[in-house]
Amino acid sequence: MLDTPAQPPASMRAAAKPKTSSAGQPVPVDPDLHIGQQPHDRESDTKSLLRWIEELRVEQPRVLGFPGALDFDYSALAPALAVFANNVGDPGVADASGVSAKNRERAVVRFFAETAEAPEDVYGYLTTGGSEGIRYGLQAARERLPHAHVYISDQAHDAVRKEARTLGMKVCVVASGEDGSMDPDDLKVKVLVHRRLNPRGGRGPGAIVLATIGTTMKGAYDDVTSLRLMASVAGQVYVHADAALDGLVAAHAPSRPGPRWNFTHGAHSVSMSGHKVIGTPVPCGVLLIRSEFALEPAGAEYVKAADRTLGCSRSGLAALFLWSALRRLGHDGVRERIRAGLETAEYAVTQLEGVGVNPSRPADSLIVCLDRPDDRVVNRWHLACEGDRAHIVTVAHVGRPQIDALCADLASRRRS
Ligand SMILES: Cc1ncc(COP(=O)(O)O)c(C=O)c1O
Repeated sequence: MLDTPAQPPASMRAAAKPKTSSAGQPVPVDPDLHIGQQPHDRESDTKSLLRWIEELRVEQPRVLGFPGALDFDYSALAPALAVFANNVGDPGVADASGVSAKNRERAVVRFFAETAEAPEDVYGYLTTGGSEGIRYGLQAARERLPHAHVYISDQAHDAVRKEARTLGMKVCVVASGEDGSMDPDDLKVKVLVHRRLNPRGGRGPGAIVLATIGTTMKGAYDDVTSLRLMASVAGQVYVHADAALDGLVAAHAPSRPGPRWNFTHGAHSVSMSGHKVIGTPVPCGVLLIRSEFALEPAGAEYVKAADRTLGCSRSGLAALFLWSALRRLGHDGVRERIRAGLETAEYAVTQLEGVGVNPSRPADSLIVCLDRPDDRVVNRWHLACEGDRAHIVTVAHVGRPQIDALCADLASRRRS
């Protein structure tokens, strides 16, 4: 036990302990958590960490507005926290360190490739999440079509604009229809304008279409097949499907014909999240790309592994978590998980109608939008809001009891 705890600097001690601040506001370092010159007492740190975990456990069933499924418990894999699993470079090749979880990463990539009906020789790897997958798709597209603009709908995730900006690519925003999906006719108009300005000897500049498979706020599906067709007036087309939220849902959608979103529908690359519908304690995702479009391999000699990833050193732990969840579920288990989520979404629409908050939901979606309630309800249920609308996402930890409790809360606020 240490009897002289590390002291935060005087300026920090003088500052009042930060209260919970509104989302988006900068929050100072909590003086109790300051990391100083000297080691801190481990026992008291562990106690405070366990208290924090307990607080999260209590709070999590009320997280209705964000798409990460929270019904998991990977604590049986705790021994993995005492080893270092670093997946360096391509999952398909061994590397010199020999301490990776690439065998499990390969199995996970295959599972997602089957889900997205990818060609046999598809290249793929585990990413840090949806944004890295988007960056990969954009970068690969730019290699092929350096003069093309990136066409995204006004409902695309902000990550797309951020990644395009990082890559110095020009974004052109296409209108979305009533349901929130990209309007193919507006895409054609925008593409034609660019072609007229940049004919490139009759070949056209090409077009890079960033389709969203499950838009973040409304849950709408862009139609890969018709967008690719409409964009072809620009010359060559590359389509990346950002299926961060709803790739797995689209794959198991009960409606016929279901969403057109995957490789057989015309996508050149697809990215999906692992921590959303499946649920993992660390953010992660999968990038899949037709192998002829994958980035050129790099790779340091000492590692002895070709590397077409963006990250190089990548989390073996994420591979382990996803593999263990998917192995337990299989394709049938994922389908059942999605069926249950869609049923809860349907139930939510009926119940929210009953309390007069104008619910809306596209077909095959886990997202249900409603009129934005007051901040007390928004904060209590961790709702995601945009303008005068809010939404819930019926991933696996969200069931009828939470919907009933939310509706009771909404009804009592309307009465008061
Ligand atoms: C459609 C879509 N794309 C991309 C992202 C970004 O994913 P990540 O936060 O994993 O980088 C999200 C996040 O919710 C999303 O909904």
